[in-house]
Amino acid sequence: MDSSRINLLLRTRPIGTEVTVKGWVRTRRDSKSVSFLEINDGSGLANLQVVFDPSMPGFNTILKDLATGCGVEARGVIRHSPAPGQDIELEARAIKIVGKCESAAYPMQKKHHSLEFLRSVAHLRPRSNIIGAMARIRSRLSYAVHRFFNERGFCQIHTPIITTSDCEGAGDIFQVITRDGEREFFGRRAGLTVSGQLEAEAYALALGRVYTFGPTFRAENSNTSRHLAEFWMIEPEMAFCDLAGDIDLAEELLKYLILFAFDNCAADLEIFRRFVDKDLSRRLQQILDHDFIRISYDEAIKALEGSGRNFEFPLEWGDDLQSEHEKFLCEEVYNAPVVVTDYPRAIKPFYMRVNDDKKTVAAMDILFPGIGEIAGGSQREERYGVLLDAMDEGMELDRYEWYLDLRRFGSVEHAGFGIGFERLLQFVTGMGNIRDVIAFPRAPGQAL
Ligand code: 4AD
Ligand code: MG
Repeated sequence: MDSSRINLLLRTRPIGTEVTVKGWVRTRRDSKSVSFLEINDGSGLANLQVVFDPSMPGFNTILKDLATGCGVEARGVIRHSPAPGQDIELEARAIKIVGKCESAAYPMQKKHHSLEFLRSVAHLRPRSNIIGAMARIRSRLSYAVHRFFNERGFCQIHTPIITTSDCEGAGDIFQVITRDGEREFFGRRAGLTVSGQLEAEAYALALGRVYTFGPTFRAENSNTSRHLAEFWMIEPEMAFCDLAGDIDLAEELLKYLILFAFDNCAADLEIFRRFVDKDLSRRLQQILDHDFIRISYDEAIKALEGSGRNFEFPLEWGDDLQSEHEKFLCEEVYNAPVVVTDYPRAIKPFYMRVNDDKKTVAAMDILFPGIGEIAGGSQREERYGVLLDAMDEGMELDRYEWYLDLRRFGSVEHAGFGIGFERLLQFVTGMGNIRDVIAFPRAPGQAL
């Protein structure tokens, strides 16, 4: 790896220094006496222009293969570029092809490909500017998640992927069976986790502040631009915390991640600003500048009913909010992120804390303009009897004995939430389809 990365060269501009660069050819242009290669090595959006004289000794043997897509090693001297479009360039003394690319068959020839086309070549699309930029932003924000929690004394828990409980109770679980069809390998039916929350609660009730950040799986058959069958969730869980404290942390985290993207991903965000959402900066800035609006479900229903708007799904108290309602609330009623709290008990999972009115629970959903629900959480039911009553309604209790134990032994007030990492990335980049913010999307009928 004794070579220079292009992003560093472009930043440090070591004029006159001899360097070796390794990357892939994006384009080649020839004029009479000089040829130009645009080389990208994945370190950033920008290419390095490599200039060479095709009549130099040794070059004639490689010239016909030196085409878009091939892997090259170029050695030469960095100099000021006389031409507009780039600040520095590499004047090559030697160029080696280290990975040939079958030109005629190579799908990534064009400069601009549609996102639909790129989806059909998921293994090659990281070579496009836009998916490459997305991968870098995703990685940076993943790091920022860990940094945020570390700065605040949270302990990361690697919650299991294989579980025997259904956290959300929605039944959209992928079952785990062996190749021989054995369904009870673990002594009972098991599946892929839909959320690390229940296990995170066990650790929160010992370590105080914990989080889990990993893949979660849902077999819901929803072919939308906001649902995946495999997605990543950020889930903190805090002991001695109520619903208000829970919302405070979620707001702080979302703002932190957006500011982090502003400060650390500027170059990569530029491509989204140019080709995906011209309004990107204003949209992100708006989140940072304002407190999230906090309203109860009751108030949300009143605002929606009073709006005079004809929704595709008309709504009355007791119904769950659909995406159209969520977007209407934050885009048209409040023009800001909206946190809706205290939903009817009947439409939320068993673990949410029952309010004094006995009709609602201490739940919260965070709704973002253009996205709808980006996070969901609650204060957890810490009272053994009340939790048991909520669970009795049709759950296999023997699967949750360990969870009930948490309420028998030192149960305290606690709360947490889950942010869909892909939905956050959609918001930060403006990408319309969730399949374009994850490397290899899994959705009904799709898994490369
Ligand atoms: O609202 P959800 O289902 O909440 C939970 O799973 C809780 N156990 C979290 C917790 O309190 N620890 O999911 C949380 C978030 C949603 O708000 C949404 O952003 C995202 O996860 N999400 C999905 N993202 C992509 N594809 C899907 N199929 C998603 N389902 C939920
Ligand atoms: Mg939810």
